[in-house]
Amino acid sequence: MLLLSLESSCDETAAAVVRDGRTVLSSVVASQIDVHAEYGGVVPEIASRQHLEAVSLVVEQALREASVGLDELEGVAVTQGPGLAGALLVGISAAKGLSLGRKIPLVGVNHIEGHLLAVFLEQPVEFPFIALAVSGGHSHLYRVDGVGRYTTLGQTVDDAAGEAFDKVAKLIGLPYPGGVAIDRLAASGDANAIKFPRPLLHDGTYNFSFSGLKTAVLTHLNKHPEARAAGLNDLAASFQEAVCDVLTRKTAAAVAATGIKRLVVAGGVACNSGLRRSMRAFADRQGVELFIPAPPLCADNAAMIAVPGDYYLSTGFRSGFDLDALPVWPLDRLAARFKELC
Ligand code: KG4
Ligand code: ZN
Repeated sequence: MLLLSLESSCDETAAAVVRDGRTVLSSVVASQIDVHAEYGGVVPEIASRQHLEAVSLVVEQALREASVGLDELEGVAVTQGPGLAGALLVGISAAKGLSLGRKIPLVGVNHIEGHLLAVFLEQPVEFPFIALAVSGGHSHLYRVDGVGRYTTLGQTVDDAAGEAFDKVAKLIGLPYPGGVAIDRLAASGDANAIKFPRPLLHDGTYNFSFSGLKTAVLTHLNKHPEARAAGLNDLAASFQEAVCDVLTRKTAAAVAATGIKRLVVAGGVACNSGLRRSMRAFADRQGVELFIPAPPLCADNAAMIAVPGDYYLSTGFRSGFDLDALPVWPLDRLAARFKELC
């Protein structure tokens, strides 16, 4: 199936043309980072307006780069949630217009499901696998038994990993988005310089907590104001180490408990060089097959939306024109959709 997919859940307007949910013919991402950087974070109303301006342009560019005409498309997949309601509605409205105008089927896709399955654009992965989804809004561990079959093993009880990176970056005066900035600064720092806590490490669950870590960074800065002038790289490296250590050790515990030795790490934070390193070291030590997509497939993009989109459309599922944005949409609830397919 030749699909056009759209993504507009946060601050990236993206469109892609993907064949059979596997081959990316084009993937265009228009980032709004510069507009939001001035405010230190994403401003939802501005995001919606920016999506409106960009959406037609990214669709045109995606078709042009794929050398595909509108009349060749066989379906449209769009991020339905979770995300910012106003932002999601722009992509959804564009997708409905294309579906109605071209008389091609439409499917709404869960953004996190897209992240988890993005790896299939690089290589097939056998089910079941354990997946860690780490992004601006999520830090979730899942058991994945097939497309649409996700069991939450654990999740953040407060801030998501990406949120923690962004908030700590703000605390130390780094620009938005903070994850990349901390990653860069950490490269020249000593990860063992400051012993930050490892929240919930031994609580016997697969849950995460990152807000206390942010407070620990603030307390450290209050006690050592001189660190702002010199030593921010040590602080960034030590903070990054604490986040990556907890993410890796909890994931390792889930792998050990389930006996599933296949692991996918996905979402924007999966771009982090420290996390990629510590996951690789763990996987090599334990003989675990590790899959972390290339950074452009970890960050928000539309190609990843086509993977579940193609699956659902191929199995006969259709969204109606009453498709609405779902700002909150836990992956476990996809089971209802899966049952419809059986
Ligand atoms: O998946 P994503 O692009 O958007 C959401 O669905 O949220 O993830 C964005 C998050 C942001 O919090 C950003 O700071 C973080 O991913 N991020 C990183 C890195 N690159 C992006 N965090 C740590 N290190 C990075 N290199
Ligand atoms: Zn995302």
